Amino acid sequence: MKYGFFDDEKCEYVVNTPHTPLPWINYLGTDSFFSLISQTGGGYSFYKDAKLRRITRYRYNNVPRDTGGRMYYILDGEDVWSPAYSPAKAELDTFLCRHGLGYTIFETEKDCLATDLTCFVPLHNSCEINMMTLENKSNSMKELQIFSAVEWCLWNALDDSQNFQRNLSIGEVEAEGSTLYHKTEFRERRNHYSFFNVNREIDGFDTSRDAFLGSEGDWDCPDAVKNRKSSNSIAHGWTPMASHNIRLTLQPGETTSLIFMLGYVEVADDEKWSAENIINKEPAKMIINQFCTPGDVEKSFRELGVYWKKLLSAFQLESKEIELNRMVNIWNQYQNMITYHLSRSASYYESGIGRGMGFRDSCQDLLGFVHMAPEKARCRILDIAATQMEDGSAWHQYQPLTKRGNADIGSGFNDDPLWLIAAVDAYIRETGDGDILKEPVCFNNVLGSERELIEHLKRSVHFITSHLGPHGLPLIGRADWNDCLNLNCFSTDPAESFQTCVNRDTGIAESIMIAAMFVIYAEKYTTLCDIYDGELESVSGEETKEVKGAIQMMKCSIEVFGWDGRWFLRAYDSNGEKVGSDDCHEGKIYIEPQSFCVMAGIGVEDGKAKRALKSVNEYLTTPYGTCLLWPCYKTYHPELGEISSYPSGYKENGGIFCHSNPWLCIANTVIGEQNEAFEIYRRISPAYTEHLSELRKTEPYVYCQMLAGQEAPIPGEGKNSWLTGTAAWNFVAVSQYILGIRPEYDGLHIQPCLPEHIHRVKVTRLFRGIRYNIVLRRGTEKGLWINGRKLDNNTIPVAEKETNVEYVFE
Ligand code: BGC
Repeated sequence: MKYGFFDDEKCEYVVNTPHTPLPWINYLGTDSFFSLISQTGGGYSFYKDAKLRRITRYRYNNVPRDTGGRMYYILDGEDVWSPAYSPAKAELDTFLCRHGLGYTIFETEKDCLATDLTCFVPLHNSCEINMMTLENKSNSMKELQIFSAVEWCLWNALDDSQNFQRNLSIGEVEAEGSTLYHKTEFRERRNHYSFFNVNREIDGFDTSRDAFLGSEGDWDCPDAVKNRKSSNSIAHGWTPMASHNIRLTLQPGETTSLIFMLGYVEVADDEKWSAENIINKEPAKMIINQFCTPGDVEKSFRELGVYWKKLLSAFQLESKEIELNRMVNIWNQYQNMITYHLSRSASYYESGIGRGMGFRDSCQDLLGFVHMAPEKARCRILDIAATQMEDGSAWHQYQPLTKRGNADIGSGFNDDPLWLIAAVDAYIRETGDGDILKEPVCFNNVLGSERELIEHLKRSVHFITSHLGPHGLPLIGRADWNDCLNLNCFSTDPAESFQTCVNRDTGIAESIMIAAMFVIYAEKYTTLCDIYDGELESVSGEETKEVKGAIQMMKCSIEVFGWDGRWFLRAYDSNGEKVGSDDCHEGKIYIEPQSFCVMAGIGVEDGKAKRALKSVNEYLTTPYGTCLLWPCYKTYHPELGEISSYPSGYKENGGIFCHSNPWLCIANTVIGEQNEAFEIYRRISPAYTEHLSELRKTEPYVYCQMLAGQEAPIPGEGKNSWLTGTAAWNFVAVSQYILGIRPEYDGLHIQPCLPEHIHRVKVTRLFRGIRYNIVLRRGTEKGLWINGRKLDNNTIPVAEKETNVEYVFE
């Protein structure tokens, strides 16, 4: 069953009912001001940091679900309804919610009154615009009232949800004309306020939620709406909000537009006040004045369209597979940009207060957006590297506002350092900007500790080589990519978190995943050292040679101690026992080491790679995707940690943890399994599984973190959409391995691994500022032609002007 359809022409997913299985959301914002918006107008806004600068309030896991957000009420005769369906929830005659690139439009109609509510965050402005256009399609005059409403969050989203003894006394607002200001704590340490404005005279307002809702009121039918009158209330403490009341008359056929704006302002300390305790409103007015007319809004909306189109144009595919085009051209790249902006901080499943930016997460997200926004990737790399510690280890997370490591979660995830190499390598292959390696970057943000970036990568490598266990394999630390495989934790205290409890660092528990990652990324490091030899202070031939030696040793250790007979082991626990072995009673086989070892080229020559991937097929693959492990843990194992705390088939305990599927896809391309590689891609692809929307529950236009695995009660059910490394890695898999267009240091390497049923595709790829029009087709005369000239290898050299490429394969 579907709840909408793709409109590829407009790059939209059009939800055609408010009643989706879960809220289906979109993101507004491209720089600092961000909003989440659901198919019924729910969600919240924040400035830069969803924890520290939360502008509007949202209640996670609320009943009924998804209350709040941008709320509008239209009073037409006896009817009260909302142009986004919520909060009034009156059934509408027509309903369409168009989630597009950085905008959402609600097109609804009731009783011959049509509304178009266009919501977006304009480029270079810290505000969200909601332009509501009303059209009277009836034959008689309509006398209407419109109420708007937003509920303010008291800035720090964590405090806002906890510290009520304080919160209920601190709220402060101002009202002036059609603008309602929220200035809680402004008099103290803060330099910011927010405002809600509408571009016409109002007939009333409310800033006190109690006055607006009434003592027992609810958002679906507030007292003000019921009584058709605002109270012009000024909130003193309690719960400040902002609501306008506007009366309108519409003649038959007449149309009018109201421009609502939710804005955020920061002011310099000496410019805070215009009079005693009266905030300086000039900065807000400057934003408001830019969007006074529908023409202003439309112009800005068009600019947003151009912005997104330009980003996505970096990689465009034409093929006969509509779903493939749709994912590659629109939704996958779009999701990649969203993960760039938000890492794992704010979604409908990430509360915005917990996780900030992940070190490994953001490094991996970069793989998916670097081709669209290389300059953003450069800044991101420098930010992330600056949170690395002197010994090469890393803070696991950092706060976007402060860019400081997050001490609550700490360090000890031993794969983290290697992801930095992955990100830097991807950036240099994409841009050719080797100079980044010379950039001075602090350690742990301590001024004075700056060393060139390559030194950071070197320390990543040395962190691994100096933390090896009894089998010569890397120590796992608190966990590796699989956050929930906690081999040094032994937690039996329900009050402690697996992520932060004591890491006993036994010096025994080893990870084969990190070992394979080391082979891949230490190799990238030595390649960079070789290419930029002589230009970098921190690099010496001697040291590079040592690392190359360490890579060989690591390969040997994996071959000898990491092979289980039919697949690769996952780890050794802190008792030296195997994890992910046929000898185990549960958790016999894991997906991660199979993919990573094959990607590292281990066992490709002697058949182990093929054997391992065959085992994955036998034990882990389902029609909905490939599970993380089998059989699931049925009881809690303190020596394995959180992974065994989950019910079978969920999350890391045998769920289809989507992030790991594209690795498997890439591994299959490494051994030439073209059809299986594509099947792996297709099985978890949102567009290809749109018809399963009822089962999946999550949005059919973006990847989710997890689908329930084969041992779960309802296999295939999806959870935790949007903020997942699945997006970046699937883009890497499809663009660089299935379509096989891979940026390399010296050009674009072409090596498609397309399934048998795809005979011809065309890709337009922007690479280092030049457009390449690449046709990949099956044929008998194999080879690579550039502007009609045949090359004797598979790499398109960096060109100076637009280049036509044809690649013929069997
Ligand atoms: C985290 C990742 C982690 C993955 C697997 C995700 O929720 O954001 O950092 O690698 O889970 O455990």
